[in-house]
Amino acid sequence: MSRYAIGIDLGTTHSALSWVDLQTEGMTPEILPIAQQSGPGAVQDFALLPSFLYMPHLSELATGDLALPWNAAPDRIIGEWARSHGALTPIRLVSSAKSWLGHAGVDRRAGILPADAPIEVERISPLAASTHYLQHLRDAWNHCHPEAPFDQQAVTVTIPASFDPAARELTAEAAQAAGYQGITLLEEPQAALYSWIAGSAGDWRKQVQVGDVILVIDVGGGTSDFSLIAVTEDAGNLQLNRVAVGEHILLGGDNMDLALAHGVARDLAAEGKQLDPWQMRALIYACRLAKEQLLSDPDLQSVPGGRAQQGLQTHWRLDQDRVEARSADRPPPRWLFPGRGEQRSAREPPACRTHADRPALCAGCCRHTPLGRTAGPPARRHEPTAGIRTA
Ligand SMILES: Nc1ncnc2c1ncn2[C@@H]1O[C@H](COP(=O)(O)OP(=O)(O)OP(=O)(O)O)[C@@H](O)[C@H]1O
Ligand SMILES: [Mg+2]
Repeated sequence: MSRYAIGIDLGTTHSALSWVDLQTEGMTPEILPIAQQSGPGAVQDFALLPSFLYMPHLSELATGDLALPWNAAPDRIIGEWARSHGALTPIRLVSSAKSWLGHAGVDRRAGILPADAPIEVERISPLAASTHYLQHLRDAWNHCHPEAPFDQQAVTVTIPASFDPAARELTAEAAQAAGYQGITLLEEPQAALYSWIAGSAGDWRKQVQVGDVILVIDVGGGTSDFSLIAVTEDAGNLQLNRVAVGEHILLGGDNMDLALAHGVARDLAAEGKQLDPWQMRALIYACRLAKEQLLSDPDLQSVPGGRAQQGLQTHWRLDQDRVEARSADRPPPRWLFPGRGEQRSAREPPACRTHADRPALCAGCCRHTPLGRTAGPPARRHEPTAGIRTA
């Protein structure tokens, strides 16, 4: 019997781990402080693990620079320092691996990341990158809780509702490769709904009535998920049933970063400064940071960026108006949909593995699980992979 229930949000830009002690009735979930490299020889705890992996050149860093509490000599950087250091040398930085994991148009087991790295830089697969993040979270847990080994706890990993069966399997495979003994896969909008139910302390029953339909909107780094949950009744009890999931929309905050960077690049081009692909990648990361700063602080009017690169002065400035305009009222251009050609047309969610070839029979199983009156686990589950359950 597990002592803790561990929930892992394996995100496109950030990952996180929360947990509850199953022996403490009504406990509010805790967030695990995740130890990660924050600079050369420095390790710090953060509530989020940026989903970035940096592969340093052998001569780039000194021995011990990458040391983690559980590994004296790792050969790569994961998390905060990977993101900040990689923004300066993006050709060695793996980012948005989850978007690639959900991209049916590429071989997700092949070494394709960083996508535009030169030949001399090692590439890893989206599957391997995801495995590294999951392994880091497992190590961070074991570091904080040596008395309760990760492998003995009940672990749930969230996935976008719009992930197709292959992407679900790959997530489960990454977890297995990271040494996870058995997991439950839970769709992110469903997790959000559980959180809302738990946070309302029973009040949700007063906020909805039979016949209502709840729209869960989940805008992430790489994807946006829209799910509809119908409020129904069974023997006098309110029930929540997931009735539809939107198409796999590869549109999220990453695309906003791209849009901002292309806007800045156009301004620089008008000044006669053309960016090469590496400078463009560095600009995209800089725009992400500037965007997050500007959107978290309404009093901040603008954020400067740029530097002298290969003799090119690329100074620029992002302001609130531009960030808000890009995020709000403009239809995104076509190039912002990198995976559009691979979109699934299904309005209904894909069937679970058991019903993969007979989706019509899927209703009532894991894809349409009645959520019931509490935030507890769904009644029925299928095992798509040994030791992996789908909620
Ligand atoms: N303070 C902020 N203001 C605005 N946007 C932010 C802020 N902090 C982060 N973001 C942006 O929000 C987006 C989503 O981040 P989040 O960490 O929720 O995504 P994720 O969970 O990694 O992605 P997904 O759910 O698609 O896997 C990112 O593009 C990130 O840059
Ligand atoms: Mg997310």
